Amino acid sequence: MDIFEKIRTTGLVPVITLHDESETGPVIEALIEGDLPVAEICYRTPCAGSCLRLAVSRYPDVLVGAGTVINAAQCREAIGTGARFIVSPGFSPAVAAECAASGIPYLPGVVTPTEIMQALDAGLTHLKFFPAGVYGGLNAIKALSAAFPQCEFLPTGGVDNGNLPQFIANNKILACGGSWLVKGSPEQIVKTCREARSIVREARG
Ligand code: 3PG
Repeated sequence: MDIFEKIRTTGLVPVITLHDESETGPVIEALIEGDLPVAEICYRTPCAGSCLRLAVSRYPDVLVGAGTVINAAQCREAIGTGARFIVSPGFSPAVAAECAASGIPYLPGVVTPTEIMQALDAGLTHLKFFPAGVYGGLNAIKALSAAFPQCEFLPTGGVDNGNLPQFIANNKILACGGSWLVKGSPEQIVKTCREARSIVREARG
């Protein structure tokens, strides 16, 4: 199964910001117990690279990717840790080039038709729609999909288990991403993830 297929099957991408390497294990183990073996570890803290390296080596069955990758240096480091996919909040031609050279799937962030056209020019059709809640949510994705039927979207930003059913039922949605899946205690994470997974199963059959 290719990476996008795995992300589509899970239907969810937890967006994780870690402040210390020691936080990695408990979060990933809660995700595993929550039936959600996917982790997007964000370059928002200095320890992102070491957290990625630890997650990749200790949890080989978890699909570990890097998020908030905003330049080529971060992208190279992330790929070096073994990250299996790269996500950006916007579209970066430099990150796209690094990913293409290494054969790593890249999901750039987009909200406008122009940004989608730039991503398409780089050969990219799996796109993060961010911040989804601020930029029109599902209605915007439906309108954009009319012009860009070749694209699949990863709406992120403002998604939670309350609005997940509407998003995930749409056939242009690759998966939904966000930090709501990893909020609170490990017990809370397990509960939220299991609920989210059952919402995805119900919506997709
Ligand atoms: C991201 O970069 O993907 C967002 O910060 C996640 O948004 P959320 O915190 O609203 O889920």
